[in-house]
Amino acid sequence: MKEVKIESTLYVFESIGELPKEAAFLMQKAFEARDKAYAPYSNFNVGTAILLDNGEIITGNNQENASYPSGLCAERTAIYYAGSQYPDAKVVRMAISATSKNKPTLNPIPPCGACRQAIAEYEIKQESPIEIYFMGETGKVAKSTSLANLLPLVFDKSVL
Ligand code: THU
Repeated sequence: MKEVKIESTLYVFESIGELPKEAAFLMQKAFEARDKAYAPYSNFNVGTAILLDNGEIITGNNQENASYPSGLCAERTAIYYAGSQYPDAKVVRMAISATSKNKPTLNPIPPCGACRQAIAEYEIKQESPIEIYFMGETGKVAKSTSLANLLPLVFDKSVL
């Protein structure tokens, strides 16, 4: 038996003001998307903005449903739209922001496991890392230099 250690690294910025200009711009787009989310059941609004290597910016937000599992997260709404409209483009960067009507979201809010799995598919497909910035409504912003860093032990096509 041997112990296997798995590490992840995040870079944490004190606020959106500390981000590189292009990342701050993308986060602003995520804010705009977030504020248009349809989340009447959770009151938890999430917005995502995606920069593609063709210069397009795709945004998405969470879409809920009275049949709860039929809803979809912001990250998947956005990345599936990007994949469907621009199948040959690579995702350069994603920005994610979440707010809640129930309590302040002052710490970075990471994408859920299902969204990480979905983003991983595209990172593996394009063979280049996707930079991911995530935050709450305000406050600190976390950056991961790849999706793989957020999802060690990914389930991928190599096992099929
Ligand atoms: N949600 C997202 O949009 N992204 C995530 O990564 C986590 C959760 C949404 C789903 C649901 O509409 C609400 O947030 C509460 O879970």
